[in-house]
Amino acid sequence: MAESDFLALSGSAKEADSGPRPVPRHVALIMDGNGRWAAKRGLPRFEGHRRGVEALRRAVRAAIGIGIQYLTVYSFSVENWSRPREEVQGLMGLLHRFIRNDLAELNANNVRVRVIGARAGLDADVAALLREAEQVTEGNSGLTLVVAFNYGARQEIAAAARAIAEAVAAGRLSLNDIDTDAISAHLHTADIPDPDLIIRTSGEQRLSNFLLWQAAYAEFVFLPINWPDFDEGAFKAAIEDYAHRDRRFGRVEPVACNAKTGS
Ligand code: FPP
Repeated sequence: MAESDFLALSGSAKEADSGPRPVPRHVALIMDGNGRWAAKRGLPRFEGHRRGVEALRRAVRAAIGIGIQYLTVYSFSVENWSRPREEVQGLMGLLHRFIRNDLAELNANNVRVRVIGARAGLDADVAALLREAEQVTEGNSGLTLVVAFNYGARQEIAAAARAIAEAVAAGRLSLNDIDTDAISAHLHTADIPDPDLIIRTSGEQRLSNFLLWQAAYAEFVFLPINWPDFDEGAFKAAIEDYAHRDRRFGRVEPVACNAKTGS
């Protein structure tokens, strides 16, 4: 796709206020393959994660340029606690440095940071840093960067079920009120639209407990490159792929406006 076409798509996405569009409103990234990237080069796994943060920075800048409104990144899953202690500490250190070093630039670029995942069980300093990133940027109106940290989709759904059960037991909600909207409203992503596109690097083709509920009608792009090699070109190619999908949401006719119909 020529750069000019790309920008035209981006502009039309900004104008439309509802429904699917050529440029996805919400892209979610499964940043996989840091370890394999490092192993291929005879480097420690930590170096793969460190280079992964650089790729994350590039991805955020590219998302702003493309006109994406929400970018969710899977940075630490609940299952990642079972990695070696040293690797977990390394990832926590990278999160620290990412927020410390990049928060000012994110804020200057009108990025709003949101964090999804369980706060319980996090070190107090990590939890405080996540809160700070959200508070400092809460008035921003540009890209929303959703950091999935200590996140697990099944855990999120179980917590929503508990909250709904409590509301029913307390008489605040009736059984008949429990529908798909009610469940969505009790997830960490309550005020965030569902992802239109999920991109996973490293060649793996699975969701790994990421946004299971929200991904019901997401499109998927699986890239054969490892996360540290993800760049603006790879991002734009994935968006172009998405723009040619017919999204039917269970209906017969495509309901998406896309690059083919231009509608
Ligand atoms: C998967 O690669 C990646 C992760 C578990 C962590 C993702 C984290 C980053 C990109 C950098 C950290 C960013 C923040 C903000 C904390 P893997 O290690 O599972 O790769 P492998 O499957 O090749 O071993």
